[in-house]
Amino acid sequence: MKRLFAISAVAFLLAGCSCCRDNRTDAEKFADNLLEQMTVREKLGQMSQFRPKGGVVTGPEGHSFNIEQMIKDGEVGSILSLRDLEYFEIYQKLAVDSSRLGIPILFAHDIIHGCKVIFPINLGSSCTWDVDAIRKSARVAAEEASAMGLAWTFSPMCDVSADPRWGRVSEGSGEDPYLAAKISAAMVEGYQGEDLSDSTTILACVKHFAAYGAPEAGREYNTVDMSERMFRDRYLPAYKAAIEAGAATVMTSFNDYDGIPASGNRWLLKDVLRDELGFDGFVVSDYDAVHEMVYHGVAKDGKDAARLALEAYLNMEMTSGDYINHGEKLVEDGTIPESLLDELCRNILVAKYELGLFEDPYRYGGMERFKKAIYKPEAIELARSIARESMVLLKNDDDVLPLDKGRNIAVIGPFASDARAMNGTWDGFSEAKRTVTIEQGLKARFNDRRVTFTRGCDPYSHIKGGIDEAVRAARFADVVVLTLGLPGNHSGEAAAMTTVELPQAQKDLLAAVKTTGKPVVVLLVTGRPMALESVEDMMDALLVVWHPGTAGGTAVADLLSGDYSPSGHLTMSFPRCDGQLPIRYNYKNTGRPLPDSYVHKQHHKTKKPYYSCYLFTPNSPLYPFGYGLSYTDFRYSDLKVLTPEVKEGEDVKIKVKVSNVGKRRGTTVAQLYIRDLVASTTRPVRELKGFVRVDLKAGESREVEFVLTPDDLSFCRKDMVWGTEPGDFSIWIGDDCEAELEGKFTIK
Ligand code: NOJ
Repeated sequence: MKRLFAISAVAFLLAGCSCCRDNRTDAEKFADNLLEQMTVREKLGQMSQFRPKGGVVTGPEGHSFNIEQMIKDGEVGSILSLRDLEYFEIYQKLAVDSSRLGIPILFAHDIIHGCKVIFPINLGSSCTWDVDAIRKSARVAAEEASAMGLAWTFSPMCDVSADPRWGRVSEGSGEDPYLAAKISAAMVEGYQGEDLSDSTTILACVKHFAAYGAPEAGREYNTVDMSERMFRDRYLPAYKAAIEAGAATVMTSFNDYDGIPASGNRWLLKDVLRDELGFDGFVVSDYDAVHEMVYHGVAKDGKDAARLALEAYLNMEMTSGDYINHGEKLVEDGTIPESLLDELCRNILVAKYELGLFEDPYRYGGMERFKKAIYKPEAIELARSIARESMVLLKNDDDVLPLDKGRNIAVIGPFASDARAMNGTWDGFSEAKRTVTIEQGLKARFNDRRVTFTRGCDPYSHIKGGIDEAVRAARFADVVVLTLGLPGNHSGEAAAMTTVELPQAQKDLLAAVKTTGKPVVVLLVTGRPMALESVEDMMDALLVVWHPGTAGGTAVADLLSGDYSPSGHLTMSFPRCDGQLPIRYNYKNTGRPLPDSYVHKQHHKTKKPYYSCYLFTPNSPLYPFGYGLSYTDFRYSDLKVLTPEVKEGEDVKIKVKVSNVGKRRGTTVAQLYIRDLVASTTRPVRELKGFVRVDLKAGESREVEFVLTPDDLSFCRKDMVWGTEPGDFSIWIGDDCEAELEGKFTIK
């Protein structure tokens, strides 16, 4: 500790000394001063991150490092996935008191949708379209995580994806670049707050850079190959927005991009990230991703992999140890100049300085603080309201929902009392005992004696007598609430699937229950869109509840009881069947587009010869992007383009009237889509460019204004420059991507 104060004092003196006045920030001066005292090995140590034994497992095991000794030797810059509270302090003390320079450790973990209070999985939260609420949820997560001892989360995941076979769609914000950009930026703001030196803020990490959301065939860790234009148009904007929001760190992706693995991809990490986007924080590899360049076949061994990563400007290596094991040799033999290490290590030291770790290495964590910071009632209330807003009502025949509180309800299916299914993947440090299951939520809200529970089947298999019992329960009830879907750990990392249909056992359960003639309300518990066309007819109502988090069961009760009206809208298309995947609303028109009547209203199953379509399946999804019902009805009218002609560089202004024409209060998400009719490159048939949640009482109307900025109208043009082009545009406003209310404007 003493050494640290000595270092700080020198740095502060330098900061004030007139001979040294320059453009460097205090943090940079501090880092430079420290670097002068560090050995090559100590620098490489700061550039290395390890997972201690007993930590949360988030990747393949197999490395064995003597972390304690390495900390004392100054070889551990960061630790990930620590679970036990007391170890934060034990390891920090080792670093500060026993290593030569006493540089504090940066503790990191995947706080993805909450730490103790768990919010809906990110895909679910994105369906709220409520950017402020998502920002607040990240703030809550940071408050709890920092109280635990963490100073860095590996979030937000900014990977746009249109392929629900890929399990990690659950961690992102859906298929649309515009919405994902807004949400990613808000999450960064929530984690990092106004000031990193505030001990309740933590570093955000933009991941996975880059294009990880487009693995071939949706298979995890698979190769990504796409044009640079596609990358810039569709995948880059969300990362960019998060970086512009000030994200302090970035994580590389596992995949190769255009033949070069991301962790050794200098074009991505230096040219695009630093030189073009102006990122000045530090980049961490994903788990073992540096060493994995050996298996990608671009490095012959760990040393070669370390070389590639260093040359690509990758600051910190996660878990494999290739930097600490081989970095010295690379410097000794002149392959890597020490000045490059200085540059890369400096970014890490600056982040530690900005967090205030040099001033007080123990500012994060502490048992007393932790106990006070977690499970605050207002945090649980926020989780409940976000969960409620995230749920998407896809079908509600004959207004079967909301349910009358006096009716007999048979709750059936494998997920009603499963806390893990509520919390989903990356469930932080959640506890089953603090999670409200669907069973608990419904029992608390409806008449306990009128609600029965029957499992019916397991997620993937029948259970003995399960279906018979379920049918009996349905017969005695007025209405069936059937929980179907996927287990909590069957989305997220390493959870790719070749089918997103319901497992057969669940289809059988649904069919059996339906024979009773009772209305069937399906609650779909899932971390990804599912292909439901073959079973949808048997559902009278369908509410997608995702993995809704700590307050999930309460939120389900909020909606089923009618105490609140559903307001979620899909951020990924729900396909009809697996063969349509990947599927997105913002597809290109092709040279043989289906006539409009086929594209949007294609409910008939006929083909149109020599057009871009399938023989036996419509092109359209079962439920489109943006779609979501409420217990009331909304009407969109009076669309006015206030600026029908603008010059390049000017804003376009549009107004629309939104009316609640139903009998209940409700919230709709007004969405604005554009189409650039003729451009130098092919453009999507629709692109989201604005949205606003509008809460209206029954009978109420409101005028909503949208402003399209030049950036909203820009794209990666034929000349590879991001910008606008003169020409005509169509716009549509409504409550999903098939909105019909249309307007026009022109850029002169
Ligand atoms: C691998 C995952 O891809 C990444 O998202 C995560 O942050 C790291 N493991 C650390 O757990």
